[in-house]
Amino acid sequence: MNRFLLYCFISCTILACKQQKVTGVLATNAMVVSAREEVSEIGTQVLQKGGNAFDAMFAVELTLAVAYPYAGSLGGGGFMVYRLEDGSIGALDYREKAPLAAHKNMYLDSLTGNVIPDKSTLGAMAVGIPGNIAGIFAAHEKYGKLPIEELITPVIALAKKGIVVTDKQQKRLEKYRDAFVKVNDSNFFLAKAWTTNDTIKRLQLAKTLERIQKNGRDEFYKGKTAQILVDFMQRSGGIMTLEDLAKYEAKWRTPITFSYDDLQIISMSPPSSGGICLAEIMKAIEPYDLDTYGHNTVKSIQLITEAERRAYADRNYFLGDPDFVTIPTETLLSDAYIKERMQSFSFKKATPSTEVAHGNIEIIESNETTHYSIVDQFGNAVSVTTTINGAYGSKLYCEELGFFLNNEMDDFSSKPGEPNMFGLVGAEANSIAPEKRMLSSMTPTIVEKKGKLYMVVGTPGGSTIITSVLQTILNVHEYDMGMQEAVNQPRFHHQWLPDTIKMEPDGFSEALQAELTSLGYTIDATNSPVIGKVEGILILPDGTLEGGADPRGDDKAVGF
Ligand code: GLY
Repeated sequence: MNRFLLYCFISCTILACKQQKVTGVLATNAMVVSAREEVSEIGTQVLQKGGNAFDAMFAVELTLAVAYPYAGSLGGGGFMVYRLEDGSIGALDYREKAPLAAHKNMYLDSLTGNVIPDKSTLGAMAVGIPGNIAGIFAAHEKYGKLPIEELITPVIALAKKGIVVTDKQQKRLEKYRDAFVKVNDSNFFLAKAWTTNDTIKRLQLAKTLERIQKNGRDEFYKGKTAQILVDFMQRSGGIMTLEDLAKYEAKWRTPITFSYDDLQIISMSPPSSGGICLAEIMKAIEPYDLDTYGHNTVKSIQLITEAERRAYADRNYFLGDPDFVTIPTETLLSDAYIKERMQSFSFKKATPSTEVAHGNIEIIESNETTHYSIVDQFGNAVSVTTTINGAYGSKLYCEELGFFLNNEMDDFSSKPGEPNMFGLVGAEANSIAPEKRMLSSMTPTIVEKKGKLYMVVGTPGGSTIITSVLQTILNVHEYDMGMQEAVNQPRFHHQWLPDTIKMEPDGFSEALQAELTSLGYTIDATNSPVIGKVEGILILPDGTLEGGADPRGDDKAVGF
């Protein structure tokens, strides 16, 4: 082919790809979208057997611990937002909490007052009291249909059969090998040189699951498993006790709800900042004609960034565990407050974050995660984000029980004013106290349109969770994209401090970046190869479910 023909061929191919409408997996009855195919498969099989979304949640959460130890584990916590087929809604908080022996300055050097590096992120001192088992049992007890034994059986079978290492997984295992060895020891089985297509069996985890299958929830919090876990934590230099485990309870919460045009958004309430922050951003954007600005244009990025900047400044100051601090939710989400917050915004130039402190409200008195979305054949929906915080959590792995422990304690402000591993600068509201839940960004969300279920969406990504969920909803609503197309789009993120717009590389042209820079924005398009890994389900006008599984990971939508 001569050069001209080759040029024509490449140009036509690119044009054809651009014009081709991307469609995700379609299903008529029910769907599960998660970080791994095996996980979505097991969840869908539960639904096919007549189970509902809560049964599927139970199996999916446990299968993530088997197949996706990067973020799924019995040693983590999470949040679930649900909408039943009759339109009733709710939320479940099974976030980790601080051990009884925790205290405000536990990560500070007593001489210098500085944060001790790694103490809140690596090893036993970083671990919060896990909530995952309490969460799935609480959800199942209230709404599940199938017996627990039946839900756990396929998960145990998969743990024994093993999971096949994907290319992306191999790279992640390799990346964290040194940290695994540092926290565990050189014989740690996940620290060996795994190659793509190897099979990793989770035999110890299978045994733990068998005990839970036999003895129920209390096996984890009061039984042999609790004893093994506490002995291990004490040996590893941690402070978790049997009393901590015995006292752990998941909590039902009222979700955050708000309207955006003709949508009704239902999202997670504190101790996650997700719902409030998402609401503040969307309510700030709503009065503008975002669709006319175009998708990912200078003007739309400016508007979204400025709304994000202001919402994150409030997040970091006002939000914390609602059982410990009073959060001025009504004021933060009031039209008057949001209008006043956006008064300093101009398309002519960036507002420096130094000029955007938290809003002036008087308080009277007081990054790796994973998401799954489920819609069942009865019309129930659950949106769940679950985490052990960092990649493989604290890297501390209890061999006898077969799972990683979280490093969720880093989500507290170790020292108000100092950034955590996501660069989030927190304040007193999120300081450490015994039994307090650390502030989260997890944003499991359900969207209704004209009173009907419309979308189920969420993502991992630490502080970028909220803005990834935001952009996915906007892509569908403002820019008429389908679910898969909306998930695929390049993403950007601003969180007040650092005063930088993070962008996925290759997703934003140099000309666009230069124009934003000239308006006073600092762009970082090199350090975040991936922002979020969104899992969404969209209900199309004829009732068909369209899955959006993020191509940034091994994620998969499965339905029937
Ligand atoms: N650990 C991440 C989050 O809770 O937002």
